[in-house]
Amino acid sequence: KSACIKIISLKFLPGFSLISGIHSPEVVDQIQNFEIQDSDVFVITYPKSGTIWLQQILSLIEVKGDVTATINQLNSERVPWIELLDSRKQFVSAPSPRICVSHLPYKFMPVGLKQKKGKVIYVARNPKDVLVSYYHFHKYANINCLTSNSQHISCVSVFGNCWFEHVKSWFSHKDEMNFLYITYEDMIKDLRSVVERITSFLARNLTSQQLNDVIEHSTFKNMKNNPQANYQQIPVILLNHQLGSFLRKGTVGDWKNYFTVAQNERFDRVYQQKMKDVPLSFIWDM
Ligand code: A3P
Repeated sequence: KSACIKIISLKFLPGFSLISGIHSPEVVDQIQNFEIQDSDVFVITYPKSGTIWLQQILSLIEVKGDVTATINQLNSERVPWIELLDSRKQFVSAPSPRICVSHLPYKFMPVGLKQKKGKVIYVARNPKDVLVSYYHFHKYANINCLTSNSQHISCVSVFGNCWFEHVKSWFSHKDEMNFLYITYEDMIKDLRSVVERITSFLARNLTSQQLNDVIEHSTFKNMKNNPQANYQQIPVILLNHQLGSFLRKGTVGDWKNYFTVAQNERFDRVYQQKMKDVPLSFIWDM
């Protein structure tokens, strides 16, 4: 386990990159000139920070907790990816309010967002748990084979982006945008209050019962049993569903089961150095 963490952390520190065959630099480049509507909502995450959780919550908020309205829709249809061409077409043609999700770093974002058009919900998770979640994801996702060619290498500089840069760049520009910052750990601690913060930020009025329904269908247990939330539709060649699942453990502090003492000390050193001027703190264990 420790050897694998080492390998993944090498990937993690320089950052994740474009996946050839899935992402294309041209599509990513077009995003900056994207026409933003005031009612647009952008969910931004570093991978493995609870993206799918936000997709579930936001799509349920929009239908006032009525799960029957979303149950047969793919996550990417409910909350499309702006960096994926087909998914983005759905976002563009969606009725207002349009909601999309992205792992992209700040520098690729539409100019309109920086002029306080639309709204951004940024979800952060403590990076040790992100790393462990990523490690498990790589065990069953066949993305390594996709990234091991030259296109990947040439794309690293386009999309090259590590956790520290992602969090820091978005957070440091927050005042330019209509921006809500939430953490995975706060969602674990008190999902209701985070959902209330989201509904208030988006100015959506839900009754107490509707709020209960959103929360009920967004619990780990219910999402774990939801094939859409586990990307069951993705072919086995890309995600080997026998080897893992998207909804894996859903806890805070799992990193303690994987990091050696030395790795933890090394990580803490890097963290302290890179985050020294950033007024953010994380919950590392519960
Ligand atoms: P773990 O691998 O630690 O379990 P992303 O969608 O950004 O890839 O994030 C996936 C991570 O979010 C996984 O973490 C997954 O279990 C967790 N997650 C997704 N939905 C969740 C929920 N309802 N409750 C708790 N964790 C959830």
